[in-house]
Amino acid sequence: MSSQNPSLRLGVLISGSGSNLQALIDAIENQQLPGVEIALVVSNKADAYGLQRALKHRLPAIYLSWGQRNVGAQFIAPEFIAPKPTMSESEIRLTALLRLFQVDLIVLAGWMRILSAAFLEQFHQRVINIHPALLPDDGTGKTYTTSDGTQIPVFRGLHAVQQALDAGVKITGSCVHFVTPEVDAGPVICRQEVAIVEGDTEETLHERLKMEEHRLIVEAVRRCKSVE
Ligand code: GRF
Repeated sequence: MSSQNPSLRLGVLISGSGSNLQALIDAIENQQLPGVEIALVVSNKADAYGLQRALKHRLPAIYLSWGQRNVGAQFIAPEFIAPKPTMSESEIRLTALLRLFQVDLIVLAGWMRILSAAFLEQFHQRVINIHPALLPDDGTGKTYTTSDGTQIPVFRGLHAVQQALDAGVKITGSCVHFVTPEVDAGPVICRQEVAIVEGDTEETLHERLKMEEHRLIVEAVRRCKSVE
């Protein structure tokens, strides 16, 4: 590692299966992401399969229990962070971990917890998320225009795959975007449209979306690396 071109150190946050984490691990091991390494994997679920994936590849992996309690001025790990009153205790612990492992870019790969504005402020343009629906370029607004010119609603938050099925749209997709305090409303880095087919269920459609996500997440990290 030269000081002129240091590695981009990822902190990957997961809550479940971790197939997108696996896509990053594979891309790094196959030299498809030169100058990128996974510094730390954090899960808010002790039994998340993604933790097993990380450990299998000898990556630092930690379970961080997640509560929403605010701790006010209480001090935790003062050598790493002076806590802001608006951050939860869990966010303060997470911040300390990310600093300890010198994380440059935080990748939310199926992370199911909302991060506060105070937390995000510390990592401006350095937190990205994979969302299984289509967002417009700047992430905001209520509609997205697909490549065939059709306007569809923007599906944010939980169950975005099912929301697309319920709305009866013909095209949905996934995107990777920068995380801003408003949920699933940050600028898009890359996206892929996916057609909904007759008989699709939330499960079948989500599986097809994930196949695209595994490519998208690698592409998004590559782009973040190229602009550092
Ligand atoms: C992905 O579909 C992503 O879009 C959503 O959570 C899912 C995580 O899947 N935010 P995995 O844990 O990476 O398999």
